[in-house]
Amino acid sequence: MRPVLGIETSCDETAAAVLASDGTVLSELVLSQRDHAGFGGVVPEIAARAHIAHLPALVGEAMAKAGLGYADLEAIAATSGPGLIGGLIVGSSFAKGIALAAGLPFIGINHLEAHALTARLTDGVAFPFLLMLVSGGHCQCVLVEAVGQYRRLGGTIDDAVGEAFDKVAKLLGLGWPGGPAVERLATTGDPRRFALPRPLRGRAGCDFSFSGLKTAVAHLVAAYPPGPLPARAAADIAASFQAAVAEVMADRAAHALAMAPDARALVVAGGVAANASIRAALASEAVRTGVGFVAPPLRLCGDNAVMVAWAGIERLRLGASTPISQKPRPRWPLDSVDMPLA
Ligand code: KG4
Ligand code: ZN
Repeated sequence: MRPVLGIETSCDETAAAVLASDGTVLSELVLSQRDHAGFGGVVPEIAARAHIAHLPALVGEAMAKAGLGYADLEAIAATSGPGLIGGLIVGSSFAKGIALAAGLPFIGINHLEAHALTARLTDGVAFPFLLMLVSGGHCQCVLVEAVGQYRRLGGTIDDAVGEAFDKVAKLLGLGWPGGPAVERLATTGDPRRFALPRPLRGRAGCDFSFSGLKTAVAHLVAAYPPGPLPARAAADIAASFQAAVAEVMADRAAHALAMAPDARALVVAGGVAANASIRAALASEAVRTGVGFVAPPLRLCGDNAVMVAWAGIERLRLGASTPISQKPRPRWPLDSVDMPLA
């Protein structure tokens, strides 16, 4: 099989990558739209326009770095959902355009599937494995049984965990995205100073809840006089919040592993997988249960196109293809993804 070009535009990262069929990364580029920082979040219209502005040159650069022309490719894979519809239309239409012009197959990729399969690229993880998908928009435990075969065991009943990090960052007066800023501040704080709730800890199943924790942080902050928090208090709140999240995640992972005794590994993926405390808490839970633990390298935790190209390769190996008429989908749950026909 020849190399595959991957394109990712589902949120505010514009990304392109070229992978050889054995997973060797020939080129990878990610452009983050940090100009959203001033708005305190992603603005869909601005994000879509930025994808239009940057994608063509980025794809050209990825191809040049790989030293390839379109005629050297096997297929073009692009994220077709879930995500912000403007960005999805830009990325998938651009990919279809190249595919049609170059006479190549187009593969529409589910963004969550791309996060899910990353551990197979980086660590060759075998099926079945338990995936904790933790990002700004998603927070779920999924049993990954095969490419295209995903069983959702639990998910958040309110906020996604990355969203909770972003909201707590806002309460603490930190920038956006909040996760990395909270983690940085937490390293200087005392995680035992404030007793914050551990929502759903010990509860049957592996659902999550973070809105009560976020509200508890808001109450802590409100107890201080208006204006910037004292530096010590801000660091201790960040550390106490992060400790509560890590403990809840480890507890939910333990329950999920008990629900999936066949799982050979615990895999964490998505932007929040970059958090060192959460990785450590999940790793020790995996050790306790006697399964392997896999977290992607930091550059593959957040949104990227390497994972999209890799998901394309996994699908192509099974003979899958996508009709060029496939429409991008803002909602596309992982357990409704098609199984490739063998
Ligand atoms: O997967 P991702 O890049 O985009 C989505 O699909 O949502 O995840 C972004 C989320 C944001 O909420 C961000 O605050 C969070 O991941 N995040 C972190 C860290 N780095 C990113 N949360 C906690 N600790 C981090 N180091
Ligand atoms: Zn993502």
